[in-house]
Amino acid sequence: MEVIVCKTKEEAGKKVAEIFINKVKEKNNKEGAVLGLATGSTVIPIYENMVKIAKEDNIDFSKVRTYNLDEYVGIDENNENSYRYFMNDNLFNHINIKKENTFVPSGEEKTAEENAKKYDETVLKANVDIQLLGIGENGHIGFNEPNESLHAKTFVENLSENTIEVNSRFFSSIEEVPKKAVTMGIGTILSAKEIIICAFGKKKANAVKYLIGEEKVTTKVPATMLFLHKNVKLFVDEECFSEVKKMR
Ligand code: F6R
Repeated sequence: MEVIVCKTKEEAGKKVAEIFINKVKEKNNKEGAVLGLATGSTVIPIYENMVKIAKEDNIDFSKVRTYNLDEYVGIDENNENSYRYFMNDNLFNHINIKKENTFVPSGEEKTAEENAKKYDETVLKANVDIQLLGIGENGHIGFNEPNESLHAKTFVENLSENTIEVNSRFFSSIEEVPKKAVTMGIGTILSAKEIIICAFGKKKANAVKYLIGEEKVTTKVPATMLFLHKNVKLFVDEECFSEVKKMR
């Protein structure tokens, strides 16, 4: 795992955005880039920079296909808290991507398990070029929560108390946070050719400590599964990195 320390999350956002844009340009002469995407606060500076570069340099996204990591179960895609809404609002509505080429798992409750299975097949077939990841304070990636064992394929996860509490900042009350989410499994995530994981701020230091300091694989910190992949870049900001150094 290559660790890249940036002064700020804005600087990291620009660097990561450039990597994604370069992939789009490279694959525009071929079959088009296949991007694995994430949601949450971490990825906002990345999408802001992607939109900025796309506008300034007239980047064509018409051949690009995107596959998101996860979606809450039981939340309609028109709900502001759905990950589909987040993606439209922060990225898709501002670039010339075809909406039919943007894939987010379905959060439909009744068919969640069945759709998760189909989604997994679709992602594996798509052969993701670069997968973007954030990391939970508890070390989760996608919504693969710390556990005795982890799922290989896309599945319906019961969100941990920690995740529900942390994510309640986006909802008007903690009771409104869904208890379940559909998420790519660890094997699905690792199927991407390249992975970029970002962690910004002090709150992520504990999780990042395992990646930088321990270099061990444990299901208790799902992000450590990334040690099983040969092309992973971890972008951290100074704020997170200096906290990790204090812990070592
Ligand atoms: C979101 C996702 C999650 C987040 C993680 C960090 O699609 O897969 O793993 O990346 O919970 O969230 P933020 O960035 O809000 O701190």
